[in-house]
Amino acid sequence: MTNEKRQILVTSALPYANGDIHIGHMLEYIQTDIWARFQRSQGHECYFAWADDAHGTPVMLWARAEGRTPEELIDMMNEQHKADFRDFGISYDNYSSTHSEFNRDLVEQIYGKLEKNGYIDRRNIEQLYDDQEGMFLPDRFIRGTCPKCKTPDQYGDSCESCGSTYSPTDLIDPRSAVTGSKPVMKESEHFFFRLGEFEDRLQQWMTSGALQPEVLNKLQEWFADGLRDWDISRDEPYFGFRIPGTQDKYFYVWVDAPVGYLASFRELCERKGLDFDAWWQPDSNAEVYHFIGKDIVYFHTLFWPAMLMGAEMRTPTAVYAHGFLTVDGAKMSKSRGTFIRARTYLEQLHPDYLRYYFAARLGSGTGDIDLNLEDFVQKVNSDVVGKVVNIASRCAGFIGRRFEDRLSADLPEPEQYARFVEARADIAAEFEGRNYQSAIRRIMKLADEANRYIDEEKPWVQIKEEGSEQKVQAVCTQGINLFSVLISYLAPVLPFTAERASAFLGRDVSDWSLMDQPLTGVGINTFQPLLTRVDPVKVNAVVEASKESLQPAETEQVKPEDTAVEPLADEITIDDFLKVDLRVAKIVKAEAIPEADKLLKLTLDIGSETRTVFAGIKSAYEPSDLEGRFTVMVANLKPRKMRFGTSEGMVLAAGPGGNDLYVLEPDKGARPGMRVT
Ligand code: 2FM
Ligand code: ZN
Repeated sequence: MTNEKRQILVTSALPYANGDIHIGHMLEYIQTDIWARFQRSQGHECYFAWADDAHGTPVMLWARAEGRTPEELIDMMNEQHKADFRDFGISYDNYSSTHSEFNRDLVEQIYGKLEKNGYIDRRNIEQLYDDQEGMFLPDRFIRGTCPKCKTPDQYGDSCESCGSTYSPTDLIDPRSAVTGSKPVMKESEHFFFRLGEFEDRLQQWMTSGALQPEVLNKLQEWFADGLRDWDISRDEPYFGFRIPGTQDKYFYVWVDAPVGYLASFRELCERKGLDFDAWWQPDSNAEVYHFIGKDIVYFHTLFWPAMLMGAEMRTPTAVYAHGFLTVDGAKMSKSRGTFIRARTYLEQLHPDYLRYYFAARLGSGTGDIDLNLEDFVQKVNSDVVGKVVNIASRCAGFIGRRFEDRLSADLPEPEQYARFVEARADIAAEFEGRNYQSAIRRIMKLADEANRYIDEEKPWVQIKEEGSEQKVQAVCTQGINLFSVLISYLAPVLPFTAERASAFLGRDVSDWSLMDQPLTGVGINTFQPLLTRVDPVKVNAVVEASKESLQPAETEQVKPEDTAVEPLADEITIDDFLKVDLRVAKIVKAEAIPEADKLLKLTLDIGSETRTVFAGIKSAYEPSDLEGRFTVMVANLKPRKMRFGTSEGMVLAAGPGGNDLYVLEPDKGARPGMRVT
């Protein structure tokens, strides 16, 4: 690393505007933020700019469903996202939206250049179309049976059960996820970006040190397969920017999303008076880094640099991909309460805890990161509170009570202090290389040494010996100085704790250059607790609250066709259960409905009244066999209008269906109308 002041722009991937921020997102934003804060701590000019990814079909459909405009919704989400970032200590310089005039301008400029330079083709293609809704269906909005493993209800592009990828037209019995109707093939003109034209330039860029080795390997595989043209247009209706010169074509969301990095930075430049063009011209000395998840490498290492090349702009200095977040060893899950929204976490726990834990787990590669909740409590408590904060609290008491918050004139162990400061170069190199895990290990080794020093000096014993006052002051001054260096190293990771430490020490610990001078012969401020221990009860509360935020549409689906026992449903409370009014019912009449192949019409006596229920049990029962029998029904189910009449409840039956179905029957003695609990 040189001592020259570098100009650095960092970005995180833009979160979609139609969803809440969760801790999976936070892994990336925290990784980026630590890096940005680290760069600033070295005196570099470093900006962090990004935005909401506002366009696309999901936002359009969401707005329709809510009966509001997309703009209203994305503005609301933008505020919520910013609040989440702020409260997690993300030190962004600008946070915008891809639905901005700055972005529209830049998208049009870049597209204009690509067109002028001959990189855009037009041709007709056929795609699945929902006639009922009048829209082309993105792959994710087509569901059907996997052509490979035959699992039903899979997306149009890939199967969640066997992992195979295919084209939506390969699905067996495809359905529109918007209306449920059967899609038809329809032709329209599309615009294509000629990615293949950039093959040589991309090869050169990606071997210039811009990529991690494993990402580079992946890319070489894609290159071997050949780079295909990229479809960058979408037909109306779409929420996005219209392609200039067309009436009904829009830029695909993935075109204007990365341009959103530029637009957000441009907004910042306007505000701060920075020279945008100087940063983005081809031979700029400024550095640009994109932090992303490994699932969106293709967009950031092929499409995006090629777009910039085609538009005669600079390319990113590097793209850094990280792995996915798992919680307790598994994919985040709503039913287990491990799909944790940023806000749910913040309602219970201090942001520095999670920042620390992620830092302690993050390396420079693309391996997945596991948040083990037990380990989380243990690690944060033992490292941050037990080791680092503890050094300050052990020494501050004596300095405050005995020496009126004044540090001694000299350090008793200057060589030790010098060694702590000398570690700076190695620790900086670890942060620079995104080896936060190794940086943390080095810092904790020093923290152990600082604690050993205090253990050996025993100021609490010495203070009782006459004439050793000065020695105690010196030992505690040493301890506080060691703490000061450690908290400086941790400042990019623990911004809130570092800020409190700065207030205590009367020095900005986030500036690493200040540690060259130890704090001696000066007064410090009265010690306030910097960070308290993680309370495991609060961690449980986060998990519980995450279970409550469960929404049926987003629950996991585990439905292989031949599963012998259906997986258990999500946990509910007793109150949830008591909402269901189950009653003993007597089947007084059972009739077949000739036009319906699955339904029987049942007349049920529930004591206070009789009910008509249409039950899908025709293939398992002769109507006459049911008459006179007792069963259990849901008596407070909202009546449903059906083709043959209104169904006023539901009869309980076990089994997967067809003739493998069994109506429930209470034990002898139960009478019609009795509540079942
Ligand atoms: O995958 C995603 O969540 C996208 N919204 C990321 C966009 S990053 C960039 F290209 F803008
Ligand atoms: Zn499959």
